[in-house]
Amino acid sequence: MARRKKIYEGKAKILYEGPEPGTIVQYFKDDATAFNAEKKDVIEGKGVLNNRLSEYFMSGLNQIGVPTHFIKRLNMREQLVRQVEIVPLEVIVRNYAAGTMSKRLGIEEGTQLPRPIVEYCYKDDSLGDPLVTEEHIAAFGWASQQDMDDILSLALRVNDFLSGVMMAVGIKLVDFKIEVGRVYDGDFMRLIIADEISPDSCRLWDIETGQKLDKDVFRRDLGSLTDAYTEVAKRLGVMPKTSTPITKPTLIN
Ligand code: C5P
Repeated sequence: MARRKKIYEGKAKILYEGPEPGTIVQYFKDDATAFNAEKKDVIEGKGVLNNRLSEYFMSGLNQIGVPTHFIKRLNMREQLVRQVEIVPLEVIVRNYAAGTMSKRLGIEEGTQLPRPIVEYCYKDDSLGDPLVTEEHIAAFGWASQQDMDDILSLALRVNDFLSGVMMAVGIKLVDFKIEVGRVYDGDFMRLIIADEISPDSCRLWDIETGQKLDKDVFRRDLGSLTDAYTEVAKRLGVMPKTSTPITKPTLIN
């Protein structure tokens, strides 16, 4: 069998050429990184969980008419997606202050924001994905004004969808990051949601206890990341409530 062509390897995923033109196979690794890869580890089972969770969120979005790159899940770690031309922005939506916004503006983590706030970061690891304004985006031609209108509308629709889905299972959507990409249908270009939506790219807090169920567990050494992601998956019914953990059991002597 011919070896498939690797197109790109990132911190948490590998992209391979897909079976049809315009498709890509997205492979979810177990690698976890934080603080622009200053902190690194391999968390067994994380890739499997994120593949399932991203499938769940993206197919839900497709069903309500928010276009995403997701086509279908292929196996435990891979999904077939549409090839896109990535817009070099990380689009962050915040409902409650946390993380860099709390640091930057001195707002206590968990403070509800008066309305969802959308921020843009320029996607460049060597610069640490700096926060940019719409002025930078327009001046440097990263996206047009029409693109920005579409990106804002997509981001807010994703926020409404994800907030509702999470609230129904007792989880508060504090913030999240999405990426968008361009696809061309004949002469027309449209923007769709790309990359992944998973607890790696969201802040998710239990509504009752405030327990963190997202990548902050890894960033801040708060316990087992797979336990946190498994809890999210179980509540959403993505994994049966009775299923055994994805990680191998620890042998006790
Ligand atoms: O770090 P910060 O507070 O700006 O992150 C806001 C949200 O965006 C968090 O949910 C975080 O997980 C996500 N994010 C991400 N990838 C980045 C930066 C932030 O998924 N490179």
